[in-house]
Amino acid sequence: MSDPRVASSEKPFLRTLAGEAVWPPPVWLMRQAGRYLPEYRATRETAGGFLDLCYTPDFAIEVTLQPLRRYRFDAAILFSDILVVPHALGQDVAFRAGEGPVLDALKDEADLAKLDVGRVLDHMRPVLETVSGLAKAIPETTALIGFAGAPWTVATYMIEGGGSKDFATTKTWAYGRPDLFGRLIDTLVQATGDYLIAQIDAGAEAVQIFDTWAGALPEAEFMRWVVEPIGRLTRRIQTERPGVPVIGFPRGAGVLYPTFVRETGVTGVSLDTSVPCAWAAEAVQPLAVTQGNLDPIHLVAGGPALDAATDHVLSTLCGRRPHIFNLGHGIVPQTPPDSVARMMERIRNAPRPA
Ligand code: CP3
Repeated sequence: MSDPRVASSEKPFLRTLAGEAVWPPPVWLMRQAGRYLPEYRATRETAGGFLDLCYTPDFAIEVTLQPLRRYRFDAAILFSDILVVPHALGQDVAFRAGEGPVLDALKDEADLAKLDVGRVLDHMRPVLETVSGLAKAIPETTALIGFAGAPWTVATYMIEGGGSKDFATTKTWAYGRPDLFGRLIDTLVQATGDYLIAQIDAGAEAVQIFDTWAGALPEAEFMRWVVEPIGRLTRRIQTERPGVPVIGFPRGAGVLYPTFVRETGVTGVSLDTSVPCAWAAEAVQPLAVTQGNLDPIHLVAGGPALDAATDHVLSTLCGRRPHIFNLGHGIVPQTPPDSVARMMERIRNAPRPA
C-alpha cells in the first residue's frame, strides 16, 4: 500500500506514512515531552506557568528537544496544548497545579457569538515561531509533527469548563440544540484548519488531530461530531497542502475505527490501548497506516511484562504493513525514564518478524 498523496522522504516516520513497512518501525510517544523528565520539570520551573511555556518559543523548543536527546525518537511533536485554540478564540484558559485545565465555560448563544476566528493566527504567532525554530533544530532523520485537538474534544473542554466524567452538559447541547452546537463545531473546524495549515507552512511535516473523548459518543453522534468535522479538516489539508499526512486519534472508537478511517480519509490512525492488535492488523491496516498502542502503564510497571507487551505490538502490527510504534494514550508523569530507554532498546534491536 503506497499513498501517492504523501511525498517520499529519508525520514523513517514519513516513509511509513507514505506506505512503506519500515524496519525497525519508527517510534515516538504521545506526550513525550513532559513531567516524567526531570529536565522538563526544571524548564517548567524557569518558565513560570504552563501557558508561558507554550507561548515562549525558546522554552517550547527546548522541551520539545529534550526527549529526542535522550531517546532519538523518529518524530518530534510541537510542544503546546490542544487548549490554545479556545484561548486564541478569546476564551479564558488557565492551568492550575494539581487541577488540570480550567476554562470560563461557554453558557449560551451570546458566549458562542463572542468567539473570534479572526484573531487565531495572530494569537498563535509564538507557537508558529516555535514550529519554524524546531524545523531548523531537529536532527535530519527526525520528522516534525504539528497537532491540534479535534473539534468534539475541544468543545467538551469549552462547554464543561475543564475535564469531565460524563460530558453531560456538552451532550445536552449536542443532542438537544444541534443547531447551536453545530455552530461551535463549525467555528472550531475553521480555527483548527487555519491553525494546522499555518503549522504546516511553518515547517510541520505531518499533523495529528487528537480526539481524546471520541469514545464517549453513541454511533450516530460519533458520525456527526467526530467523523464529519475531522473529515472536513482532513479534506481541507489534503486539498490546500497536498502530500502532508494527517493522523487521526479517535480514542475509544472501538469497532468504529474502520468507519472512522474510511469516512475521514486520514493517512494514519492512532490506536488506543483497548484495540486488539490482531484485529487492527485485519480490519484497520488495509485502510490506513496505523500507530500505537502500548499501554502507557506498561512503562510504569516495566520489567518482563513491558518486554512482552512491546513484542506483542511488534509481532502483530509491524514489519509486514506500515506501523508507527507509539503508546495507546499519553505517557504518564510517574513513568521511570529508564523504562522508556528499555522499550527503545527492545524495538531497535528486535528481529524482523517473518
Ligand atoms: O506530546 C507532546 O509531548 C506535546 C505536547 C502535548 C501536551 N498536551 C502538553 C501538556 C500534547 C500533544 C497535548 C495534548 C492534549 N492536551 C490532549 C490530547 C491528548 C491526550 O493526552 O488525551 C488533551 C486532552 C489535553 C488537555 C490537557 N492538557 C489536560 C487535560 C492537561 C492536564 C492533565 C495533565 O496531564 O497535566 C493538560 C496539561 C498538559 N499538556 C501538560 C503537558 C506537558 C502538563 C502540564 C504541566 O507541566 O503541569
